[in-house]
Amino acid sequence: MDLQNAQRVAQAAARVAGEQIRTFIGRPAQTHQKSSPHDLVTEVDKACQTAIYEILQKEYPTSVLLGEESVPPGAAAATLAVQQVERDLLWVVDPIDGTLNFIRGLPACTVSIGLMVESVGRVGVIYDPMRDEMFSAIRGQGAYCNGRPMRVSTEADLSSSVLASGFPTGAYRGRNAEQIRRFGYHVRNVRAFGSAALHLAYVAAGRLDGFWENDLNAWDLLAGAVMVEAAGGRVTDADGAPYSLDTRHVAATNGHIHDQLLRDLNLDIPLA
Ligand code: IPD
Ligand code: CA
Ligand code: CA
Ligand code: CA
Repeated sequence: MDLQNAQRVAQAAARVAGEQIRTFIGRPAQTHQKSSPHDLVTEVDKACQTAIYEILQKEYPTSVLLGEESVPPGAAAATLAVQQVERDLLWVVDPIDGTLNFIRGLPACTVSIGLMVESVGRVGVIYDPMRDEMFSAIRGQGAYCNGRPMRVSTEADLSSSVLASGFPTGAYRGRNAEQIRRFGYHVRNVRAFGSAALHLAYVAAGRLDGFWENDLNAWDLLAGAVMVEAAGGRVTDADGAPYSLDTRHVAATNGHIHDQLLRDLNLDIPLA
């Protein structure tokens, strides 16, 4: 398997979707509600996914594609992801990560494309079309932003760290908000840019020291998980288990603050 070629194809697909994001940001034609009022999708999300699929499938006709807009929202998505992972070549695609930002014209939305080969995450591509930043990584071969090598930060103290998180669309929203409130008291600061993939790319780039969020899906995480690890960081489930395709509650850090973050995440916070 030529991973360099797979990375090039994923980058090309991400650029094509990125062009649509740049064209339609702040003025999407049609917006629909998915699982909740917090969870929206537009015609552009679907068009971007179609365009990405066409490019990936043309070069890799026997690969399996798992994209956010082709599976039902909620728990079924994770189950589907696990079933699909049995296949040799699996692309995992989030055509627009940060749909709400896209709708509102907030320039923090990304295209996220990850590749699993025989059940191992091998390639991660995250493209930010509004800043024209192409983040990419191949397992064991480092991580790059627009061709420049990326490395996680060296911050070793949680209290001096800049973290990021988000506001999940489903049942874990209250728990996540409570965690943000608690961390807000004792870390340098917490950011919520509204794109999980962007947060992961920024951890890989050393711009953030860590990221956590509950209830994410494979398409939010795979590319970024490959990238953070390739940049020298650590990615686990919130309970410390190694990252896998069915990880929903993620913690991704520079490695140095990982255990401190996990300890504080696992304080007894009720699900609300
Ligand atoms: C969302 C974004 C957001 C996160 C949500 C995700 P989407 O993805 O990653 O940052 O807080 O939990 O669902 O729906 O915009 O692709
Ligand atoms: Ca979505
Ligand atoms: Ca997403
Ligand atoms: Ca999405």
